[in-house]
Amino acid sequence: MNRSEFERAIAGLPFEKAAFFESIGSTNDVVAEWARDGVMRFSIAAADEQTSGRGRSGRLWFTPPGSALAFSLLLDLAPSFDKTLLGRASGLGALAVSGALEGLGLRPEIKWPNDVLLDGKKVAGILPEAHWAGEHLQVLILGIGVNVSSDSVPPASEVSFPAASLEDFLRKKIDPGELLRAILESLVVWKTRMSEPDFIDAWQAKLAYMGNSVQLENADGPAVLAVVEGLADDGSLKMRMENGELRTFQAGEIQLRPLLTEK
Ligand code: BTN
Repeated sequence: MNRSEFERAIAGLPFEKAAFFESIGSTNDVVAEWARDGVMRFSIAAADEQTSGRGRSGRLWFTPPGSALAFSLLLDLAPSFDKTLLGRASGLGALAVSGALEGLGLRPEIKWPNDVLLDGKKVAGILPEAHWAGEHLQVLILGIGVNVSSDSVPPASEVSFPAASLEDFLRKKIDPGELLRAILESLVVWKTRMSEPDFIDAWQAKLAYMGNSVQLENADGPAVLAVVEGLADDGSLKMRMENGELRTFQAGEIQLRPLLTEK
């Protein structure tokens, strides 16, 4: 995406601050810096290339020039923001990206909490970062990366989950500015509806592996099998364990892996 495509994409949307970079370390860091400087309202930083893009769990996120969407939003949710909504914010970006992909005729699924999949392959990832002052949530940043062309897809040896690009599925060029616009329009709508029950319903309706057995991986022990039962009110994941117990996990506690027999 270039600067004029970015400016067209955000025209008329309610951003306090917006910036585009040809190349930057990480757009999440740009927005965090703005927050430290006192920016508190809805804002966006986007880049054509990230040289140190971050993924979840300390992984790197690959954003070579001319191949992907990479942008970060400062969400104007504090100070009345409660912890239920914090969990829901994790789904906000995934719902927005999914809405835009449906507009392109695709059928995205969301691998909890917020990876966007097409045909079982990851095409977009979301990195929420909350900044706290003690118990007080100061700012919530939502970083969104979308693999647009195949150049944005890292080699299979470097990813922990199979990845693909949108153009692999559409087999035509995508206008990155139009895609960004569609994601932002969807996000602006869902942001106002985050406390409504249908926010969780919409997120759950797109949940990958719903009702299926998956492997649960966490940092402390061997992977175990469990069935995906759906979302709790705060966006945490309900899982039926092999011993019949229903457990709830917060984002970051576990990773889901499909069984080899499934896609
Ligand atoms: C993941 O699935 O691991 C999350 C990937 C998030 C990538 C985006 S790209 C824009 C923003 N800046 C970053 O450094 N990361 C996020």
